[in-house]
Amino acid sequence: MSTLLRLDSVEAGYRDLVAVREVSLEVHAGEVVALIGGNGAGKTTTLRAITGLLPLRRGRIEFEGERIDGRTSSQVVARGIAHVPEGRQLFPTMSVRENLELGARERTTRAAALESVFALFPRLRERERQVAGTLSGGEQQMCAIGRGLMARPRLLLLDEPSLGLAPVMVRLIFENLKRINESGTTILLVEQNVARALTLSHRAYVLENGRIVLDGPREALQQSPHVKQAYLGL
Ligand SMILES: Nc1ncnc2c1ncn2[C@@H]1O[C@H](COP(=O)(O)OP(=O)(O)O)[C@@H](O)[C@H]1O
Ligand SMILES: [Mg+2]
Repeated sequence: MSTLLRLDSVEAGYRDLVAVREVSLEVHAGEVVALIGGNGAGKTTTLRAITGLLPLRRGRIEFEGERIDGRTSSQVVARGIAHVPEGRQLFPTMSVRENLELGARERTTRAAALESVFALFPRLRERERQVAGTLSGGEQQMCAIGRGLMARPRLLLLDEPSLGLAPVMVRLIFENLKRINESGTTILLVEQNVARALTLSHRAYVLENGRIVLDGPREALQQSPHVKQAYLGL
């Protein structure tokens, strides 16, 4: 399998805080990889480092064999990585359609991208003209994922898509992520909902206090005594 994304000994932080250190991970084309860990473990920081929102202090990041650390976030998006941020970050007074259109990279492919997002999320089509701030939490998450897909990324980064959602909505969002992956988009998924995240992913990395402490295929992590005890409540 070809390596799409590679992080090599990445260190990043905020002022005098080192939030992640020696983070090395790989995402292969076609995979769903989960990055799991508790609150404050450094998951969001890792995604922000990948998308150029936070400078690296050490290490390197490669996408499709080329270095992307040091690039701006718009350059990273242009290469084919879309980031669906924690907390959705929609523009609440703009319509669903306007929010989606902001995710498009090129005018020429915008209509086709919008059509495929509406095909995936029929609920967004029904609410095309509704302002995003009045959507339910689950619909806002669909809109945020849809906006990421509008860039037609090869790699989709998702930060806590299930956070704050009712179980029925979590199930729906994860079914959609499975379909997105099956239609050819590679996914790096950050989640605190470890049970759900493992069900969807091929492999996972466990981040604790800014370091990767465990990684492996889904089944191995589901069987791991540490994961069971610390994250699955078993
Ligand atoms: N903007 C920020 N300024 C200072 N410290 C931050 C900032 N964002 C996160 N941190 C700190 O960095 C560490 C990792 O946070 P984060 O990456 O958000 O964790 P997670 O997403 O796993 O919950 C935490 O100790 C957090 O308090
Ligand atoms: Mg976070």
